[in-house]
Amino acid sequence: MSGDLRQPAHLTHPTDELSAAERRELIATMRPEDAAGVPELHEVGVPDELRELIEEAMGRYPQIRSASLPALWAVQRHYGWCSPQGIRQAAAVMGVTPAYLEALATFYDLYHTAPVGLHRVLVCHNISCWMNGGDELLRELCAAAGANPDEAGDHGASSADGEFFIQGFECLGACDLAPMASIDDRYYGPLDAADAVAAIEALRAGEQPVPEKALSRRPAAGGPEPDPDPRVAEAEASANPAGHGPRADGPTGDDSRGRGPHG
Ligand code: FES
Repeated sequence: MSGDLRQPAHLTHPTDELSAAERRELIATMRPEDAAGVPELHEVGVPDELRELIEEAMGRYPQIRSASLPALWAVQRHYGWCSPQGIRQAAAVMGVTPAYLEALATFYDLYHTAPVGLHRVLVCHNISCWMNGGDELLRELCAAAGANPDEAGDHGASSADGEFFIQGFECLGACDLAPMASIDDRYYGPLDAADAVAAIEALRAGEQPVPEKALSRRPAAGGPEPDPDPRVAEAEASANPAGHGPRADGPTGDDSRGRGPHG
């Protein structure tokens, strides 16, 4: 057979595995005209509901690019991951290049640039959770879901049936729930081995996992807020000269209200 059919290294290996010489060779072959431009809307066929979510996000910010993360989130919710097709669709709606959105999606680890299991379970294994059994919780969840615990603790693992994606995660900011997990974007804790099994079974049955352990069920720190908050009522009374409260700006009223610390 004549000719050299070998592929360049950058087409057969991840670019972070290339040697310095191979990287230089790759960079030398790059041309600006090879970069994908902004796709046209008619080329990508954006689903209506996805387009509405992205446009709604764009309307919230003075700079359209500020909507990039919510747009990617909408893509991930729609497709289950930030697929190349979904990224192209978001790019077309926003008028940016797919590469711009892809750079963000690959930077943040809450975005998936490869398919993952349907239900996403992030298990905190940072200090508070680890000391309270976070590693054991991760293993219990993996055993119940059928996911590889070593992979899950590292970069995350999907179960063989595609129902679950489980990943050990750094502090999720709910240390008082230790050990805790984020299940389909809702926080639950403290969770034990029985909760892990119950949560996976509930998700398989299409039910809310361990609702009694949901963060949303916990009372606010310091007890319930008085209703209405007296500080709001006081400020409203001060701002309303027709009301019965003292005027904030009158010479006879308590004019300390509404001023700065030196006012
Ligand atoms: S250490 Fe687990 S939420 Fe902070």
